[in-house]
Amino acid sequence: MDLQLTGKTAFITGSTSGIGFAAARALAMEGVRVILNGRDAAGVSSAIERMKKIVHHGRIEGMVADFSKPDQIKLLLDQLPEVHILINNVGIYTSDTFFDTTDEDWQHQMEVNLMSGVRLSRRILPQMLNANWGRILFLSSECATLVPADLIAYSTTKAALQALSRGLAQLTVGSGVTVNIIVPGSTLTEGAVTFLEKVAAAENKTPQSVSKEFFTNVRTSSLLQRFATVEEVASTIVYFASPLAAATNGAVIKVDGGSSGGIL
Ligand SMILES: NC(=O)c1ccc[n+]([C@@H]2O[C@H](COP(=O)([O-])OP(=O)(O)OC[C@H]3O[C@@H](n4cnc5c(N)ncnc54)[C@H](OP(=O)(O)O)[C@@H]3O)[C@@H](O)[C@H]2O)c1
Repeated sequence: MDLQLTGKTAFITGSTSGIGFAAARALAMEGVRVILNGRDAAGVSSAIERMKKIVHHGRIEGMVADFSKPDQIKLLLDQLPEVHILINNVGIYTSDTFFDTTDEDWQHQMEVNLMSGVRLSRRILPQMLNANWGRILFLSSECATLVPADLIAYSTTKAALQALSRGLAQLTVGSGVTVNIIVPGSTLTEGAVTFLEKVAAAENKTPQSVSKEFFTNVRTSSLLQRFATVEEVASTIVYFASPLAAATNGAVIKVDGGSSGGIL
């Protein structure tokens, strides 16, 4: 299938590793000029080098910005070139009880998870509307509906992103621009692998058995009953970033292995 993405430019927030890196790599393989992002220059350069070893054609670039730092965001917004595809991927969490989650924890997650997308969309959506083509994708989480007890702040930012995505889609009426939100479930990123290995070492188990127990005891609503791979999430992102997905707008697209339930 030709996804008709050649020649487009994509900016993917939080893309030196994890789902963001996998999505950027998949876009680059489709001929997209990708701009990677992370908090420091060394991490961004290393991600560019890693990607160039896998994708031998096209333009792979990087822009450093920490989305919790207003001065760095301002600089990024000033320097960002025209982008056709904006993937608001960056997302952080603190795992804590509601009563131990401080105002600073709330504000940090709101800034990085929600306000990054607000600020980038405010800058980029008008250009897309002028050009009559563009794709904005947000990354939510199964937590937006599952709301685990130790992730209330994170889950709240993800639920807010879903309203933001729908609201922005409603600004695209009659244009070639779409805005959608992707909802991953538990996904086997580098971070998840490290976490599984740590728990396994502490409990004298294998990472495979810890992973299995997570779905048996914690994420019981998962129909998939395993972590999704980053490639499985990335391929969904790439399709909805493509011209082929023109008729999907204002949608919530689940790639959560069925964990969040419901019929919608
Ligand atoms: N993994 C899952 O199971 C899962 C499940 C549901 C939803 N999601 C969502 O999917 C998205 C991607 O998740 P992920 O697990 O792939 O993330 P991840 O592996 O934790 O993301 C790491 C990336 O985020 C960047 N980053 C972290 N803080 C940043 C900041 N303040 N400013 C700019 N970049 C920052 C890191 O860059 P540097 O370290 O280079 O600075 C790195 O590129 C997130 O929105 C997440 O909430 C993930």
